[in-house]
Amino acid sequence: MTEAADRWTAVDDFLVGALGTEDDALRAARAASHAAGLPAIEVTASQGGLLSLFVRMVGGRRVLEIGTLGGYSAIWLARGVGTGGRVVTLEIEPKHAQVARENVDRAGVGDAVEILLGPAADSLDTLIAAGGEPFDLVFLDADKQNNARYLTAALRLTRPGSVIVVDNLVRGGGARAAAEGGSDPAADGARELLDLVRKEPRLTATAVQTVGGKGWDGFLLAYVG
Ligand SMILES: C[S@@+](CC[C@H](N)C(=O)[O-])C[C@H]1O[C@@H](n2cnc3c(N)ncnc32)[C@H](O)[C@@H]1O
Repeated sequence: MTEAADRWTAVDDFLVGALGTEDDALRAARAASHAAGLPAIEVTASQGGLLSLFVRMVGGRRVLEIGTLGGYSAIWLARGVGTGGRVVTLEIEPKHAQVARENVDRAGVGDAVEILLGPAADSLDTLIAAGGEPFDLVFLDADKQNNARYLTAALRLTRPGSVIVVDNLVRGGGARAAAEGGSDPAADGARELLDLVRKEPRLTATAVQTVGGKGWDGFLLAYVG
């Protein structure tokens, strides 16, 4: 890590400790995921707390997550929807889904979390075909090059007033490469996503860069009008 990244991590750790952001259940989920060999690419505690607050701020009762991993962010989202709320989370890797199921159950939010195993594009088609209640918040955090496709599906699964959050815009999502004129899949994916957001009349959006325990990153926040 660079000296700057070390300092961002130290300050993030300080803030999480000072605010008591992460409790034992969340720490246990993170540890169990790492012990099971899952990649350490879950949101930070600070980011999880922000997601949970976004859900509360929109009065969210139904949340859709694309990219479960070990269920760390799903626990935060489930806490946001509260008792009687629902989090549907999509995951392609059976092992990730299994670890996530154990983690959400151990964290006491298992009843609120439904994990759909399979490629997200297929699960999204199934959800659209089922025609259920709209989601209040959608969190995109899977294979970033398909974010435009997932955003298009999210627009069919939400309602005016819903919120869409896209993670890793800078780190894995390619906005940095796009800004520098790159043309790898991540950069092209970021351009496609940003074009779609700009041209979609239902969306009002902004993108915010962040630094913290996972380095230099950023997220896109979009409001469905
Ligand atoms: C960044 S991780 C998700 C982290 C999680 N949201 C958290 O913060 O705890 C991305 C996850 O998306 C999954 N994924 C990647 N491509 C996918 C696809 N096409 N369909 C569904 N899940 C996918 C990966 O297996 C991985 O578990």
